[in-house]
Amino acid sequence: MPLSPFSSPIYVTRPILPDLKLMNEQLADIWQSRVLTNYGSKHKLFEVKVKDFLGVENLSLSVNGAVALLMALKAMELPVGSEVITTPFTFPATPHAIHWNNLKIVFCDIDPVTMCIDANKIEELITPNTSAILGVHVYGIPCDVKKIDEIAKKHNLKVIYDAAHAFNTKIDGVPIGHYGDVSMHSFHATKLFNTVEGGCLVYPDESLGLKLYRLENFGIVNEEIVADFGINGKMNELQSAMGILTIDMVKEETEKRKKIFDTYNRILSQFEGIEVMKLPENATNSYQYYVIRIHRDKCKISRNELYEKLKGFNIMARKYFYPLCTEYYCYKHIKTGPLPVANKIKNEVLCLPYYGDLGVENAEKIAEIILSLVK
Ligand SMILES: Cc1ncc(COP(=O)(O)O)c(C=O)c1O
Repeated sequence: MPLSPFSSPIYVTRPILPDLKLMNEQLADIWQSRVLTNYGSKHKLFEVKVKDFLGVENLSLSVNGAVALLMALKAMELPVGSEVITTPFTFPATPHAIHWNNLKIVFCDIDPVTMCIDANKIEELITPNTSAILGVHVYGIPCDVKKIDEIAKKHNLKVIYDAAHAFNTKIDGVPIGHYGDVSMHSFHATKLFNTVEGGCLVYPDESLGLKLYRLENFGIVNEEIVADFGINGKMNELQSAMGILTIDMVKEETEKRKKIFDTYNRILSQFEGIEVMKLPENATNSYQYYVIRIHRDKCKISRNELYEKLKGFNIMARKYFYPLCTEYYCYKHIKTGPLPVANKIKNEVLCLPYYGDLGVENAEKIAEIILSLVK
């Protein structure tokens, strides 16, 4: 029987939302206190809850992930104009954070399996002017953090991770934020866990906390002293209230997404033209994205054709991350070495609808539609 289109569009994600009654209670507290921002009681409680959830000791909440990443780089005190090695296979916020810090972007190719920065290609890009490595745990798949750590120690470099997709990713049970000097998680509405907009920085060295506090609050020390070039990166009380409620929903959402992950993997892995999402055995999945790779030589149609045809079924997949950051108008001028792996993978990847309420039945149908189109 031919598979019929969905009756309304199915997008890649749908945010988890708390019970409106509970949210109104949170808002009533805020209205009562008239404290809307600047580290009120909601912020304090939320911070504790996120630390507990992630199992980390040092954490700073932020207004969003992009600003958090700007502050993370700023906090590293890298020499102006020095080089930061990063991946082109990411969201624009990653290289933008380097640019906004007056640092030079050096794009490195990616690993053919993890799709994260290829740790084996980093050293050849290091010059006397290199100051840091900015890795991205793309789709929540961890970078080779141990190798990157070794390289950084050897060459005296800072390590920053864009862990926007890796909220709750662990390696051998250790929270991902334990690695590198500082890691950023995004709490954007499109993420597994959201505060509408929001994010946080996690760092192993407690002393970074004060520096980040100053950076997110205009550099203010007290009413008369401004000690640093801070920005306004604070999370407000409404975001925090949302987070207080949504964080309690993450476990259930993760369980639901796990079933969808297994369903997609079970059906799609039947065909050799499709490479399903897998993580290293010692890593815990963040369940933020579900990505497949379409191998053109084994499929009837290309990734782009599949993407277009899926729209006809009301399935709105996304080509994350196509094009590469090196192809953006603002970064085209940057000279890079060859990026064969990133240039191949950008034409293969497709992120599929992935949220708890999608349900296993719909995931089965999406997977069957994909198989019928590519086989
Ligand atoms: C890899 C990556 N980095 C940074 C960001 C920016 O995070 P935010 O939207 O919270 O500013 C995103 C956003 O989705 C992202 O995917």
